[in-house]
Amino acid sequence: MDRRPAALVTGAGRGIGRAIALDLARNGYDIAANDITFEEPGRPAAHQAELDQSVRGFGAGFLAVPGDIADLGGHESLLEAVRKRFGRLDLLVNNAGVAPLERRDILDTDPGSFDRVMNVNARGAFFLTQRAARWMLEQARDGRAQGPAVIFISSISAEVSSPSRAEYCLSKAAASAAARLFADRLAAAGIHVYEVRPGIIQTDMTAGVRDKYDRLISEGLVPQRRWGRPEDVARAVTALARGDFAFSTGLCLEVSGGMNIRRL
Ligand SMILES: NC(=O)c1ccc[n+]([C@@H]2O[C@H](COP(=O)([O-])OP(=O)(O)OC[C@H]3O[C@@H](n4cnc5c(N)ncnc54)[C@H](O)[C@@H]3O)[C@@H](O)[C@H]2O)c1
Repeated sequence: MDRRPAALVTGAGRGIGRAIALDLARNGYDIAANDITFEEPGRPAAHQAELDQSVRGFGAGFLAVPGDIADLGGHESLLEAVRKRFGRLDLLVNNAGVAPLERRDILDTDPGSFDRVMNVNARGAFFLTQRAARWMLEQARDGRAQGPAVIFISSISAEVSSPSRAEYCLSKAAASAAARLFADRLAAAGIHVYEVRPGIIQTDMTAGVRDKYDRLISEGLVPQRRWGRPEDVARAVTALARGDFAFSTGLCLEVSGGMNIRRL
């Protein structure tokens, strides 16, 4: 295999996805970066141009694949662009995700918000994985990729209850189940599927609740007593992707500073 392995990272425009793209580039991957805020190549958005430059700074190839992951009709052309540019797909990271625009008690969950959150976090990731997996199976049959993998970025909300954002919790529980299901289906072909479950990570997504979590974290909600950083999640993804957990497909790796520990 002469070329570097290629990774497609969704939602790579900022936050956790951006950190994942950079860490993978640092560790030898070419990067296809998707984001709904990206523009077509030729007139890139500023944050897209900056990511492009940083990825290339690691000697990696960069391709921007703009698009809305919730739009299933766009998945084929998205993967086709990756095929054209890199000729292979070794890793898909399903990171694109949205929180409810407004937190509301579960008794008042809005159906529109339910659909929006589910369509990106669960349905979009599921069907993109389905399409990518078909390509990975093709590659595996031809011996063209070694140890291909899919990683779902879910959330502790897959298990932790927040009745003020039920649709988010449901979407992440679905993403978690999708990781397990694809892991089972693809294991015999040597395609590994993992779930990475972040805790409270300092990004734009959590900017609106920063003061609240500052307080809760200082009071001990997070045993390690700090916010998670996008790089904490990125390093977990890289470790899984490069095969450090080769006999552990279906693994769920929580990156939450110890929130996985039940405490009294
Ligand atoms: N920040 C946290 O505390 C936290 C905790 C657990 C899980 N997560 C999950 O990690 C992932 C990344 O979160 P983040 O904190 O970096 O969020 P963020 O909002 O800072 O960044 C998300 C990125 O995804 C892009 N995006 C959103 N919808 C998209 C779509 N439909 N198609 C393509 N791109 C889209 C956005 O433009 C943005 O660049 C999400 O799936 C989120 O649910 C975050």
